[in-house]
Amino acid sequence: MQAFLSSSIPATSYSRSSFLPQPPQAPARLALPSSGPRAAAAVVARRAAAEAGRCVAASASSSPATAAAATEVPGTMKAWAYDAYGDASVLKIDEAAAVPAVGEDQVLVKVVAAALNPVDAKRRAGKFQATDSPLPTVPGYDVAGVVVKVGGQVKGFQEGDEVYGMISEKPLEGPKQSGSLAEYTAVEEKLLARKPKSIDFAQAAGLPVAILTANEGLEKAGLCAGKSVLVLGGAGGVGSLAIQLAKQVYGASKVAATASTKKIELLKSLGTDVAIDYTKENFEDLPDKYDVVFDAVGQGEKAVKVVKEGGSVVVLTGAVTPPGFRFVVTSNGSTLEKLNPYLESGKVKPVVDLQGPFPFSKVVEAFSYLETGRATGKVVISPVP
Ligand SMILES: NC(=O)c1ccc[n+]([C@@H]2O[C@H](COP(=O)([O-])OP(=O)(O)OC[C@H]3O[C@@H](n4cnc5c(N)ncnc54)[C@H](OP(=O)(O)O)[C@@H]3O)[C@@H](O)[C@H]2O)c1
Repeated sequence: MQAFLSSSIPATSYSRSSFLPQPPQAPARLALPSSGPRAAAAVVARRAAAEAGRCVAASASSSPATAAAATEVPGTMKAWAYDAYGDASVLKIDEAAAVPAVGEDQVLVKVVAAALNPVDAKRRAGKFQATDSPLPTVPGYDVAGVVVKVGGQVKGFQEGDEVYGMISEKPLEGPKQSGSLAEYTAVEEKLLARKPKSIDFAQAAGLPVAILTANEGLEKAGLCAGKSVLVLGGAGGVGSLAIQLAKQVYGASKVAATASTKKIELLKSLGTDVAIDYTKENFEDLPDKYDVVFDAVGQGEKAVKVVKEGGSVVVLTGAVTPPGFRFVVTSNGSTLEKLNPYLESGKVKPVVDLQGPFPFSKVVEAFSYLETGRATGKVVISPVP
């Protein structure tokens, strides 16, 4: 985590492109059908009202009428779930899924927004069934929401805290059976961070898996100030953050990235120095070589052709060709906390795909869109009822 200690962060100007997140989309409603302890429920209701453009006086939260509206966490909730592996059609809404029990080291999060990742689709297709949790599964790793209950040993969070995180520490090894595509999800305190105030819940929900993967990959590849990096798949969820972290957190001297024609301007707006349109040029045929190649596409065989001698090739998916290596991201709240200042300051920005955010009722459509492989930044689910 040495990179975080760097005091010389290049001051890159960041121009907002049409792909970048627009002003927060107001959740149509976040009527808590139920809520946790009253204070937390009031915070959630006020936050939802604020994001919906309504104004709720702070004092109203303690009025008898509002207090009466706040009830205990229910035993059941709405959740998307599947009880057999397959394509997106296996997903069904369960109107009475069990609200997960809260362990001693966990908090219960009222989900305000969630996000999809390719791993959700691959898991749903049964690709990881040897190490998966038992069916039925409520999918979803990414969450942003409000703490409504805390376990007995939780020290860092309290009811009402706005948090975000990746809910399973090891996404492929016994991930949680009850994920974030639900009204509530239970998460270990150590996997969560405070949501940066400068971004809304939808933007925060799109970050955890992607930003943790980008960070861990760049760190494992040994990127540091003055080195060059090529990001393959720069317009995707992970790639759009790898570009920004390389520049803003790791101090890379040159960031190159690939995407198709329509996304070249986005790459530049994220800080890419050399934007390569893969529909017109083969990156492996260009003369440039890089200290680090970050492959978020599955082009490991080509990636190793453009790495400098002694450099690193980190591969997220597909076949690995030496000297390339692959890793699987580990969830970690303290890493998110360390990245929070870059998000607070706007040096690193979430990129939310403008086909969304998809409301909770449109999760099947959101999965189908993600699985086209053409998403720009993150496919976000918001609001969640
Ligand atoms: N190992 C791990 O721990 C880990 C963690 C996270 C993700 N992953 C994996 O990493 C991959 C990327 O994840 P993601 O969330 O970033 O996916 P994503 O957001 O769905 O990626 C979509 C993007 O990929 C781009 N793309 C597709 N083919 C491309 C090509 N040939 N060259 C350049 N860009 C291309 C698309 O841009 P165009 O439309 O311009 O083609 C699109 O913007 C997935 O396979 C995922 O499962 C692994």
